[in-house]
Amino acid sequence: MSFFEWDARYELDVESMDDEHKVLIAKMNRTYDLVARQAAQSECLEALDDFIAYTSTHFADEEKFMQRMAYPQFDMHRSLHQSLIGNLEQFREEMRKGALVERELFEFLARWLKGHIVGVDKSYASFSRSATSMTR
Ligand SMILES: [Fe+2]
Ligand SMILES: [Fe+2]
Repeated sequence: MSFFEWDARYELDVESMDDEHKVLIAKMNRTYDLVARQAAQSECLEALDDFIAYTSTHFADEEKFMQRMAYPQFDMHRSLHQSLIGNLEQFREEMRKGALVERELFEFLARWLKGHIVGVDKSYASFSRSATSMTR
């Protein structure tokens, strides 16, 4: 079983974003697996970097999507993305220095992913549905 399992509760019904969330989860699970089997630090950091880079790509795509439909909560959503990237970089730096932050990192990530997808990503998804139904 993976560290974080995809679940129908996370489905936004925005296909491109759902696909990206699945990739995000797969990259996070990959990092977790390496850390759990105590792979070399360089390997773990490389996986974490890949996860962070993909997270940035996903956020940029999501922000473009929100901007295209003039989403009213865009600024708030973007600042949540920015603060997550800041947190991730901090964890990355601690890990590089050899601090034992892995447990904290994965707990934080699991909580964040669930809360963010269900709590805030879902709002732009429902906004996009109502916006398309209005233009029909
Ligand atoms: Fe988001
Ligand atoms: Fe997202």
